[in-house]
Amino acid sequence: MVKQINDSEKNKKLEQPDDKTDTPIGIDLNEGKKVFIKDLLDENKVGKHVDLLGWVWRKRVHSNETFIVLRDSTGVMQAVISTAKLQHPIYIEQALEVSGILAKDDRAPGGFEIKADSVKIIGNSENYPISKDFSEEFLLDERHLWNRSTTMKNIMLVRERVLEGAREWFASQNWHEVTPPILTASAAEGGATLFELNYFDKKAYLSQSAQLYLETLIFSLEKVWSLTPSFRAEKSRTTRHLMEFWQLEGEAAWLGFEGILRVEEKLIEHVLHHVAETVPNELKALGRDPEDLLAIKAPFKRIHYDDVIELLRRNGFDIKPGDDLSTAHEKFLTTEEKAPIFVVEYPKAVKPFYTKIDPKRPELVLSADMLAPEGYGEISTGGQREENLEEIVNRIKAEGFNPDNYAWYLDLRRYGSVPHSGFGFGIDRIVRWITKRETIMDTIPYPRTLSRIYP
Ligand code: 4AD
Ligand code: MG
Repeated sequence: MVKQINDSEKNKKLEQPDDKTDTPIGIDLNEGKKVFIKDLLDENKVGKHVDLLGWVWRKRVHSNETFIVLRDSTGVMQAVISTAKLQHPIYIEQALEVSGILAKDDRAPGGFEIKADSVKIIGNSENYPISKDFSEEFLLDERHLWNRSTTMKNIMLVRERVLEGAREWFASQNWHEVTPPILTASAAEGGATLFELNYFDKKAYLSQSAQLYLETLIFSLEKVWSLTPSFRAEKSRTTRHLMEFWQLEGEAAWLGFEGILRVEEKLIEHVLHHVAETVPNELKALGRDPEDLLAIKAPFKRIHYDDVIELLRRNGFDIKPGDDLSTAHEKFLTTEEKAPIFVVEYPKAVKPFYTKIDPKRPELVLSADMLAPEGYGEISTGGQREENLEEIVNRIKAEGFNPDNYAWYLDLRRYGSVPHSGFGFGIDRIVRWITKRETIMDTIPYPRTLSRIYP
């Protein structure tokens, strides 16, 4: 039984802080201490009495005994109880408290089981809608429940470690974490994918990228990074676009084109190794061998845009100099690769106004995409930023925007401008590649797509 502590009891507790009001449930809701399954997978605890809290993952009745596999955030544990002792039917996803003696049993998942003498229902769950063989669409409608699945849980654990690894690397290299705005008055990545909103009778937009704001902050902190939700009204349905995605961006003063590529590849190397070292079992369960990730080391291969065009043409693709690369092109370039590659330099016309013109090849810009291997394609875009004021103003106009709306950004080129570079990674894309998902929708708990904002 979960003990709800009412006000008078709470006061009593406050007056007697040392008084341990023990409940039979193995948890004090004020203390938040419970037994976790992973801590019970321990020979030394065999023979001990345990109260385990969790949810019914599987259930099976075998003659007079009922086998219940409970799950919690750390694993699964089988409990066996005489069916006659059950006071209530057992259903999938019921929240239970199971009490009994921990035993070793090689037939149980994980090798241990609880010989239970009591099972209490904490939260009932009749007619749980998800059982077997449901369509992708149905699971998306039931995402709030499907997130309880082992697959989604493992993906979320990998995603957590990706972010943890990135944060760890930035801290180790003395980059500063900053928090740029999400509500903005000007576009960073072109007009086609802007989410517009009414901001007290003025037009505002959800941020597509924190880059322009990060550029302002390098003048005080020099090397800055941020993790922000980024929004793109992508008008097509693809396996690699979300309307709301999480972008990890870095921007550094005194750093040129090759310098920023080195930052990107070292950051990714660290992230991959951190994930492989911290969640190897989750990776394996998702079909990814952690060794694949440990084998990836900087520096990554760099292929010039000119060579990419030539290679694609030689292989029958209908592409010419000046064209952007499509998903199909990136897939072709990376299918046989085991590590990410950079495509370096792109035509000026296919990249935004802030990219720096290559002084030796004025039709190209110092911009590079990192493409994930195994056919996954673009995971980041980065490069050096244009410092020439007039050039930027012309290119802002060419994109159909009013330079007056970028006055603050243009000031960066007026006052103490320095060479600088930056990049943005799509976290969801990194997770898609690492966890080998067919669609980016499965990398985030609540995907926002062309047809979906529920649940
Ligand atoms: O290539 P993008 O558009 O570049 C920028 O926004 C730059 N301002 C970044 C910078 O230099 N600070 O977006 C960066 C990355 C892409 O490479 C991709 O991984 C991801 O963000 N991305 C998306 N991920 C999921 N859904 C979408 N709709 C995405 N759009 C971009
Ligand atoms: Mg890009």
